[in-house]
Amino acid sequence: MQSPKPRLVSGVKPTGRIHVGNYFGAIEQFVKLQHDYDSFIFIPNLHALTESIPSKEELITRTMDVVLDYLAVGIDPEKVTLFKQSDVPAHASLAWIFDCLVTVPYLMRAHAYKDAEAKGKEVSAGTFMYPVLMAADILLYDATIVPVGKDQKQHVEYARDIAIKFNNQFGTLFTLPQEKILENTAIIPGTDGRKMSKSYNNTIPLFATDEEITKAVMSIPTDSRGKDEEKDPDELILYQIHKYFNPSPELRASYAKGLGYGDAKKMLIQDIITFVTPMRERRATFAANPKLVQEILISGAMKANDIAMKKMFDVYEAVGLTQ
Ligand code: AMP
Ligand code: TRP
Repeated sequence: MQSPKPRLVSGVKPTGRIHVGNYFGAIEQFVKLQHDYDSFIFIPNLHALTESIPSKEELITRTMDVVLDYLAVGIDPEKVTLFKQSDVPAHASLAWIFDCLVTVPYLMRAHAYKDAEAKGKEVSAGTFMYPVLMAADILLYDATIVPVGKDQKQHVEYARDIAIKFNNQFGTLFTLPQEKILENTAIIPGTDGRKMSKSYNNTIPLFATDEEITKAVMSIPTDSRGKDEEKDPDELILYQIHKYFNPSPELRASYAKGLGYGDAKKMLIQDIITFVTPMRERRATFAANPKLVQEILISGAMKANDIAMKKMFDVYEAVGLTQ
């Protein structure tokens, strides 16, 4: 018999349109790894409530947007178990057990909490417990790898710590997960050269219109180097973004030899459009077929619930909650 494939779990929070940083930093890995891993890709819609609960309509739209984005980029629902976090109640149930296992000082060390605190906000209890729910997402399925961007590394470490703590106290029930971060896509720069992020207003949305792509690319600052003047391409924000869409040595060489910024921008706009066109087409096909999308989510939720409920029973049994 063939040995089962190792398990992969990941997801992207539905907090707005996904951008090129999300794609190259995390989502592209989901697509590439789907052949070699038993993949569970979900929409963490419970996590989307932590900062502040959006309106019902907005949450529904954002959730559907991520589902369509996943399908558009090439996640194959025949291969991948695709589901909404809220369709699998065991995520929240397991998080509660973990809430009682971890301490407040331990959670106070989490970057997300510290950042929110530093902004002087009154942090919601949900934000504080964020890493615990994420640990439950991962550990429920005995994931061995969790493909994410670099900023999620600490969260996966929390999941590992929690698994170790639980296993030590109640017997080995959980597999220790490992984050999978690709070094050359760990931090995709935005149009201003800082990390691409919604909060910096420097994103190129993956499913932007041609006009939006053009506007974003035109806003990338350039220096005063003259045409044909040589410069290390890696020092140019324009090339730092361009290379993800066209990693060829030829492009690098022409930047090094002083490709004019105007021409380079025109090429980048065209390269982005060429890159996203097949994805846009797939997205439109799924968007026009909401019934099919719902069926995919229901079948994913059934499969995920099956595994999660069994795990949850083992947890309750180990803790002493079944009798
Ligand atoms: P977020 O939008 O912050 O919820 O991120 C979703 C996923 O995309 C996470 O795995 C992030 O680490 C990843 N990600 C977000 N922005 C970037 C970026 N600029 N470069 C690389 N990965 C990113
Ligand atoms: N925190 C992740 C993000 O911001 C989303 C997430 C929630 C996640 N649960 C997860 C990612 C479990 C990987 C595994 O994008």
